[in-house]
Amino acid sequence: MQVISDIKLLRATVKAWRQAGHTVAFVPTMGNLHQGHLKLVDEAKQRADKVIVSIFVNPMQFGANEDLAKYPRTLTEDCAGLTEHHADAVFTPTPELIYPKGLAEQTAVEVPLIGDQHCGASRPGHFRGVATIVTKLFNLVQPDVALFGKKDYQQLAVIRALTADLSLPIEIIGIDTERAADGLALSSRNGYLSAEQRAIAPTIYQILQQLAQAIRAGATDYRALERQANEQLVVAGFRPDYVHICQRHNLVIANDNQSPLVILLAAYLGSTRLIDNLEV
Ligand code: PAJ
Repeated sequence: MQVISDIKLLRATVKAWRQAGHTVAFVPTMGNLHQGHLKLVDEAKQRADKVIVSIFVNPMQFGANEDLAKYPRTLTEDCAGLTEHHADAVFTPTPELIYPKGLAEQTAVEVPLIGDQHCGASRPGHFRGVATIVTKLFNLVQPDVALFGKKDYQQLAVIRALTADLSLPIEIIGIDTERAADGLALSSRNGYLSAEQRAIAPTIYQILQQLAQAIRAGATDYRALERQANEQLVVAGFRPDYVHICQRHNLVIANDNQSPLVILLAAYLGSTRLIDNLEV
């Protein structure tokens, strides 16, 4: 696997692939790779001749009080995993390479409405940072397809919207969430949890499943279901951020009889913010 940390070499590598007639799949990540990320790489391998992964902890998508400095950086292990999963190249730029003028003067990509609700409301500027880096990486790599996890459901919707709105010739593919045996969605942030918190964390998925079951059984007061879920989270030891039963196509809060649905959930365990979701 080729490790690339400058833009000239990145462009030359992709150009050589293109000239040889290869298609290109792209998997953007922030590293600290787990089986969820590696599943995206495996899927990418199925969909294109060449697979390139980026590892970049993007400062633009972290709020002032968030975990940018302590976000886990494990490049050696990540490269070993990517080699094992037959990635062809990994792009590992520095913040200075990506944002040479600094963040204050950086041109940004905004995705209104879909990026403003849910996590967008709790983390102002987060999706602006995500949309900007993903657009920038798309322009650098110019892939045919790009793969994202449904674990970050709203992020996937934001990326689908920006790809359509900016007419980018890239197919966006969403991949199902990889979970631990007890149901907890795999996440780099799970590493922040104490043993006690880790034991509580799968409650999130249990609550999502209960909500889905209640909806399938005919419950129609979605706001009451959300309130109950919030109460269950509190009892289990979480500080809920939100539980929202939404319309799947635009992530707007759903009322009775609007399907298909997705339930989006975010909650803190101590200072760790966990997110998960379930399509109904
Ligand atoms: P990161 O959190 O590293 O995730 C990279 C990709 O892996 C995302 O598409 C995410 O949805 C997916 N992923 C994470 N956990 C997963 C799981 N348990 N199952 C399946 N897929 C999973 O998301 C980001 O990085 C960044 O915001 C990024 C898009 C790279 C922009 O900086």
